[in-house]
Amino acid sequence: MRTVSTVDPVLFYERELGGSDILPSLDPWQMAVLRDPARNLLVLSGRQCGKSTVSALLALSTSLTYRGQTVLLVSPSLRQSKLLFQTVRTMLEACATKPEVKELRANDVQFANGSKIVSLPGRNSDSIRGYANVALIIEDESAYVLAETHGAIRPMMAVNRYSRHVMVTTPNAQRGHFYKLWTREDLPASWSKHSITTAECTRISAEWLKDERDAISSRLYRQEYECAFLAASNSVLSADWLEAVADHRDLRRDDDALEASLNGDPDEALRAGRFDHLMDEIRAEEMASA
Ligand SMILES: Nc1ncnc2c1ncn2[C@@H]1O[C@H](COP(=O)(O)OP(=O)(O)OP(=O)(O)O)[C@@H](O)[C@H]1O
Ligand SMILES: [Mg+2]
Repeated sequence: MRTVSTVDPVLFYERELGGSDILPSLDPWQMAVLRDPARNLLVLSGRQCGKSTVSALLALSTSLTYRGQTVLLVSPSLRQSKLLFQTVRTMLEACATKPEVKELRANDVQFANGSKIVSLPGRNSDSIRGYANVALIIEDESAYVLAETHGAIRPMMAVNRYSRHVMVTTPNAQRGHFYKLWTREDLPASWSKHSITTAECTRISAEWLKDERDAISSRLYRQEYECAFLAASNSVLSADWLEAVADHRDLRRDDDALEASLNGDPDEALRAGRFDHLMDEIRAEEMASA
């Protein structure tokens, strides 16, 4: 099967970033993901194993190896999409051959070879529509991306016969599109699965993980570090669950404020809350990219 990953992305890494300060080497699991030619990839991983890193690298390798490719990075929230794009930018700036950039903006980059990488939040399935002929879609934290968004982005690959969809995530309970795909027994041959727990990641010490296990509930530990899809409790809402809902609400508030401030509506931004702290971040970002 020929896909846009026919040229080995690990060779791209070695040529552009091998031995660099930002990414001195790749983990075996990261190499396996990069080299997997499947059209659809499901990658389940514990926290901090290097999911976003491998996603950014695959986006760069695809867009710089081939002309005229559109790569879409989809994250659950605006904040996460900005962080992921920052990872792409950091890698791009460290590339040995200094790829020719035509235009670099807050959330997207266009290269002289006609390829582009766009990083978008996926919490509004309607506003993400509009891209076509996409060569590669990467859903970062896929289990937290709305099912509607997942459904809205897949058709963007329809007219590109080499297109690929890579979903990387930590688990998020026994629900949602990623969980359903991961647990499907009749997964078609064009799909492939990879998983890594945080204990298997050599950068994270057993000592740190032991302390963490003592610090948080065993349910949360299993979900965040051991790739466990937790059963939702149907009687009492667990503390973890309430915490996760609160985090999600905070993310949405952050996103609302950020979007409103970017749209130049300070009243709306103030209503959404956390305006000052977000504006500081935006200003810092603008100064850094000036
Ligand atoms: N191969 C590698 N070599 C050295 N450092 C790495 C490697 N891969 C990732 N890292 C570093 O590990 C840290 C976590 O990486 P990253 O953010 O990609 O992980 P993640 O799995 O997306 O984390 P999270 O679960 O918080 O989303 C970062 O500081 C990143 O630079
Ligand atoms: Mg990440």
